[in-house]
Amino acid sequence: MQDILDQLERKRAAARLGGGQKRIDAQHAKGKLTARERIEVLLDEGSFEEWDMFVEHRCSDFGMAEQRVPGDGVVTGYGMINGRLVFVFSQDFTVFGGALSETHAEKICKIMDQAMKVGAPVIGLNDSGGARIQEGVASLGGYAEVFQRNVCASGVIPQISLIMGPCAGGAVYSPAMTDFIFMVKDSSYMFVTGPEVVKTVTHEEVTAEELGGASTHTSRSGVADLACNDDVEALLMLRRLYNYLPLNNREKAPLRPSGDPIDRAELSLDTLVPDHPNKAYDMKELILKTVDDGDFFELQPDYAKNIIVGFARMDGQTVGIVANQPLVLAGCLDIKSSIKAARFVRFCDAFNIPVVTFVDVPGFMPGTAQEYGGIIKHGAKLLYAYAECTVPKITVITRKAYGGAYDVMSSKHLRGDVNLAWPNAEIAVMGAKGAVEIIFREEKKDPARLAQREAEYKARFANPFVAGARGYIDDVILPHETRKRICRSLVMLRDKKLENPWRKHGNIPL
Ligand code: COA
Repeated sequence: MQDILDQLERKRAAARLGGGQKRIDAQHAKGKLTARERIEVLLDEGSFEEWDMFVEHRCSDFGMAEQRVPGDGVVTGYGMINGRLVFVFSQDFTVFGGALSETHAEKICKIMDQAMKVGAPVIGLNDSGGARIQEGVASLGGYAEVFQRNVCASGVIPQISLIMGPCAGGAVYSPAMTDFIFMVKDSSYMFVTGPEVVKTVTHEEVTAEELGGASTHTSRSGVADLACNDDVEALLMLRRLYNYLPLNNREKAPLRPSGDPIDRAELSLDTLVPDHPNKAYDMKELILKTVDDGDFFELQPDYAKNIIVGFARMDGQTVGIVANQPLVLAGCLDIKSSIKAARFVRFCDAFNIPVVTFVDVPGFMPGTAQEYGGIIKHGAKLLYAYAECTVPKITVITRKAYGGAYDVMSSKHLRGDVNLAWPNAEIAVMGAKGAVEIIFREEKKDPARLAQREAEYKARFANPFVAGARGYIDDVILPHETRKRICRSLVMLRDKKLENPWRKHGNIPL
């Protein structure tokens, strides 16, 4: 018997060594952790249960019969993050460069299937040279099996990807279909075709980092949500994100009560908005002063900065925050910000997370670039997302809510549950100056008269009471009581029930 036990231990040790010490050292030399070290950082200590440690590939071409490594380049299993279940796969770059074989894919599919059965999220730690070249189409089939599962799991369990090394070619499409992507600066990259192919086809010279590094995808393309400094930071940020999320679409996010009183009055908010309507202020200040303990987990902080999205808690309950940012492009909606916010709202809706929207929006961004780029279709995404959303929706208009953008930003008309406005809010078709220049065009040459008209228009429309008179907003509140009013609304909405009509699926403008 002892022999058998020793044999098992030897097999386990061989699997744990992956591609061998030399390759582990090379991984460390690049500043990267190994697949197993990453899992240790990600999960609660000692909670990892590994599956399929002894799986080997079935390929015998190109001398592969002699090269078998137990586990076949991916570590899979389940464990806990702060005591809550999670499934995880972690690609092992030391084994065939983490390349995906048929069996490697089967291991990933197995834990995805199990996660769906028990209703728990899947986290993928990606570090792979792509399809296992020696296996050819078997490997491509493996990718497609994973893709299919990503799609079936979308909106059912949260799926999160960490890109911690190469992720190229078809391999990018599995993370692309997950809910959140974090990347590690300088050691990870994602692209459909690499720099060599780019050079051949388009004659552009670009490095891997420029083409698909963390800063590219978190500031230019919007593919990724967060750029982290190293493996450990990325894994710890993921643990933090995980705490905000429910395990699946039938559960609510965990309650984490804090000592922050729900009726905490934040007097400084009464002077947050400058008197001059064209002067900017930082919407993040409002968010930080309103949520529990000033703790806000922002997503895509460097992309489409004219809108802010992220998670926070209020009265211990997870909320998704969407907020126009007057500091950037005056907080207008454009193509990128509409897409960014739409996707976030849809995540919240799929996973029972109430959406709190702070509005200060002068309208949609004008210009040929926006129109030719399809702002009509992309702006419609955000409108569609808010309109189909059935989770509690609370909206606070802090200053401008102009034109179509007023409608879009979680207005009453899109089934907003609680719509509040600060006393200085301006809910109107447009700003007073623009409005009178159109209505009183013939008085253009008489600036004094026009100024008078502007003042009249302002007095009539640049306030929240016209909308209030129609019940489009439920109340005008003092800025310092914003937190209390939102927290109370969340309590009132805790058991909200609202369903959309049955359909196979809607046809969101893509
Ligand atoms: N299939 C099989 N083995 C692969 C592989 C793949 N797709 N990608 C990498 N490997 C192996 C390498 O042969 C090498 O094996 P070794 O340790 O036995 O020498 C090991 O993984 C590490 O690769 P290496 O090239 O030394 O690492 P690197 O950090 O210098 O480069 C890549 C990483 C991903 C840029 C490079 O390996 C690469 O270009 N791979 C091919 C990518 C590709 O075309 N994939 C198929 C299409 S999706």
